[in-house]
Amino acid sequence: MDYESVRLGRNDKFRVDLHKFLQPYSYKTTNCVFSFNLLLVMMKCHIFQIVSVLFYVLFSIAQNVEFDLFDQDPLNQDQLANDYTVQAENSLLWGPYRSALYLGIRPRLPRSLLSGLMWFSMDDYRSIGSIRHFYEQNDNMAKANWVSYDPRYGGTQVIQDNDCHTNITIDFVKSKDGLSWAVKIKSEPHKGFEQSKISFVWYSGLEGEKEASIDDLGEIERTGILKLENQKNVLGYKGSVKLSGVSEELGAFQVEINDGPKTNRHPLGKSDLPLEFSPALAHHYSLRVPDDNVWQARDIFMTMLQESVQSLKGTTDSMEDIPPENLYIIRDLNDFEGNLHLVQKVYQGSCEFDVIYHNEKTPDTEKITSKNIHEKIEANHNLFDEKFSEYFELQYPYNGTQNDSGTANYKAFAKEILSGLLGGLTYMYGDHLVDRKTIFDEDTFESYELNGSPEGPHQLFTLVPSRPFFPRGFYWDEGFHLMPLKEYDSDLVLDIIKSWFNLIDSEGWIAREQILGPEARSRVPTQFQVQSPQIVNPPTLTLMLTMLLEHLSEERFGDVMKPIDIDRDNELSDVTDSTNTTKFGSYILKHPDVLFKYAEEVYPKLKLHFQMLRKTQQGHFEEFDRNYDNSEVFRWRGRTETHCLASGIDDYPRASPADVAELNVDLISWIGIMAKSLRLMAGILNKYDDVVYFQDIEEKISKNLDKVHWSKSEGIYCDVSVDEDDENVHVCHKGYVSLLPFVTKLIPKDDVDKLEKVLNIITDPEELWSPFGIRSLSKSDSNYKTGEDYWRSPVWINMNYLVLKGIEDYYYESRQFMSLALQKKFQVAYHDLRINVVDNVYRQWVKTGFVWEQYNDESGDAKGAKNFLGWTSTVLLMMKMPGNLE
Ligand SMILES: *[C@@H]1O[C@H](CO)[C@@H](O)[C@H](O)[C@H]1NC(C)=O
Ligand SMILES: *[C@@H]1O[C@H](CO)[C@@H](O)[C@H](O)[C@H]1NC(C)=O
Ligand SMILES: *[C@@H]1O[C@H](CO)[C@@H](O)[C@H](O)[C@H]1NC(C)=O
Ligand SMILES: *[C@@H]1O[C@H](CO)[C@@H](O)[C@H](O)[C@H]1NC(C)=O
Repeated sequence: MDYESVRLGRNDKFRVDLHKFLQPYSYKTTNCVFSFNLLLVMMKCHIFQIVSVLFYVLFSIAQNVEFDLFDQDPLNQDQLANDYTVQAENSLLWGPYRSALYLGIRPRLPRSLLSGLMWFSMDDYRSIGSIRHFYEQNDNMAKANWVSYDPRYGGTQVIQDNDCHTNITIDFVKSKDGLSWAVKIKSEPHKGFEQSKISFVWYSGLEGEKEASIDDLGEIERTGILKLENQKNVLGYKGSVKLSGVSEELGAFQVEINDGPKTNRHPLGKSDLPLEFSPALAHHYSLRVPDDNVWQARDIFMTMLQESVQSLKGTTDSMEDIPPENLYIIRDLNDFEGNLHLVQKVYQGSCEFDVIYHNEKTPDTEKITSKNIHEKIEANHNLFDEKFSEYFELQYPYNGTQNDSGTANYKAFAKEILSGLLGGLTYMYGDHLVDRKTIFDEDTFESYELNGSPEGPHQLFTLVPSRPFFPRGFYWDEGFHLMPLKEYDSDLVLDIIKSWFNLIDSEGWIAREQILGPEARSRVPTQFQVQSPQIVNPPTLTLMLTMLLEHLSEERFGDVMKPIDIDRDNELSDVTDSTNTTKFGSYILKHPDVLFKYAEEVYPKLKLHFQMLRKTQQGHFEEFDRNYDNSEVFRWRGRTETHCLASGIDDYPRASPADVAELNVDLISWIGIMAKSLRLMAGILNKYDDVVYFQDIEEKISKNLDKVHWSKSEGIYCDVSVDEDDENVHVCHKGYVSLLPFVTKLIPKDDVDKLEKVLNIITDPEELWSPFGIRSLSKSDSNYKTGEDYWRSPVWINMNYLVLKGIEDYYYESRQFMSLALQKKFQVAYHDLRINVVDNVYRQWVKTGFVWEQYNDESGDAKGAKNFLGWTSTVLLMMKMPGNLE
């Protein structure tokens, strides 16, 4: 039996060449260091894993490849078109969800089709050593960010690669049904480099091909495959390279990597070499790799390239006779075919080509082609612009001096912030390392080396703080990430929140950092990979949820927080009006009944999480004869003398020496805001006992903030510890920690005396005020700018947003209790703070091409991780806030 044809689609016959899959695979993953010495190629490769297993692949037409879905009237269009939920879900199926890469596309499915892009300059022998794949902090890029992007539709990423001397534009589009997508890759060399040569490598690898069964002959039947569709030619391919595949989750699909328009040029290379070295052809290499290995495509490519170069050693006298555009071509030496396919292309000068993924479920009328892709790209830009303008009405920082080019730049900046934030949307799947054994020693407060065991696999749909530096999930960052999105796409926000809350374990714990699977792990130093259940993290997601619910309870529920019965069918048809896809994203907020179900689903987990936090972080009460009214006092566990990772603000100064008697004012505030959030949810869910329960905790926390944490002498909220005589003492390091009760709005609105004192510290240049925002630690503190100076002076934008919002909210809520002079103080602080922060982040972006993790409080200079979009994106909310309080 040579061929089997499998009926896969409405009218599609899918031909499978069994022979191609009936062969052994062998590959090595290596860490390669290429070093080039006098044009002589010397490669040192450290081979750490050799996989060489005999595997027989049989594509089965038996029950496991029974694509019922397609056999019936394929996806009953009428029914689905009306089903907003399916459409909305599908609109998020595909994306550049491997955000750690410059471009890495995958679906929101555990093991499926992973694709990615690599490129390198072919102008010299050395550039291969810095082939682009993972987005790295130190890559010499003038810019690398999405500048117009919405995950439901697609968008554009712009990369100005200084080393490769080219601007690369990557357009990503999707079919209307969300099931198919395409990418246009364009390279425009910089002035003076018009003739430069560049190589692109695209790869697609199918994971999760289940071994459905082993038949009598011991052959493994697979439920999915990905194969080359072109007639196999080891010398190379003219024009398009096509892959076709099928998997249980995706059904049947094709991936086409075309050669682009006629205007493209390929370098000539050396004329007397065999065709397999020709830069004019596309070159294809395939091999079988196990699950969780496709992400190593770069190492695999380098290994195969090395093999190719080494195989030349015997055949040619001097390697330097072969120019890079011939030498660095991956040759199909082994004639393997497996689940991973690499396609290499070489161009000279400006060029473009497309990669088109077409799913059979997408109707032909909606098919993306190299002819209509331009329209789609254009439509996406317009759609994004329209949607952006609808949700982000920017208030320019200088209402006096704006001009057209100034405001245009400012708007481009704002759009890039939103796009870059959304470009960090990531789907991760895999296990992570947890140490549930090591108990921290509370006598010495020493740091521990944790020993993790794998737990999972889990999946997470999340935004990331920084694609080049922190391309993974961070619990306390995530609450901030979602703030700018809450009106733009609240469905996405709730989707992400749910994904996070699904990770809350049976004890109520959730890991601070989510490093799921080997791809994510490869970006984290070993000592930071292991998570400990003793370390919690500020529950900012509940802060976010509170904002959403408060907004709802005002707008939708009136005074009574009860779901309103609405005519759902009418609303549904409104939302699914197919001519208006901009309506994706605000469904849940418009449908209190859906929100009700949502809240019902996440509430139990959240309550468990709250109870865990409250119990495990309980502060000592009786041990120190503390005569507080109640025991709602808390201490971060797991701190060392210098660091409190749990608090999120790692090196912020705390009581020294560390003592078990410590009580933390930031933690009590977080637990307070969480209680409030849960009270609101309990209200929506008609759980009145719980409303009373949480209200009681909120009140107790409010009392303790006043009685335990307020220092009369310092006029600010402080941590608490004990002195040598075990007497309570305030530990006051003025800075972000002191402001937590203010930014979580736990100061009673009529307590204007405290509000004024807090504002005085915020606005005092000798304390927290800087021309670039509120600094993390007071200039007057003895720890100011000491140690690693991470949270000991720099300006962080997320906290500045909360401070600005706090000033605004308290101004309106407490104005009636304030003197005119105090009102004025609030107005000035608000006006100036907003301009200082926005203006500096903007100017640093103009100067460096990026948005950053922190800003120097004295110079305004950008610091830390780059492309930190990330909570620095909260600057977008500040740009939207009014210039003045009225
Ligand atoms: C590359 O991008 C930069 C910034 O947008 C622009 O100034 C420059 O002209 C571009 N170069 C080319 C060749 O397109
Ligand atoms: C902006 O407008 C407000 C009121 O319209 C005014 O008070 C303020 O001085 C103006 N200029 C700046 C630079 O904020
Ligand atoms: C317009 O604003 C931009 C940015 O603030 C500034 O660089 C430029 O000089 C201004 N142009 C004029 C004509 O004022
Ligand atoms: C789509 O809906 C939005 C929000 O309701 C509205 O502002 C916009 O004008 C609509 N667009 C079209 C093309 O109907």
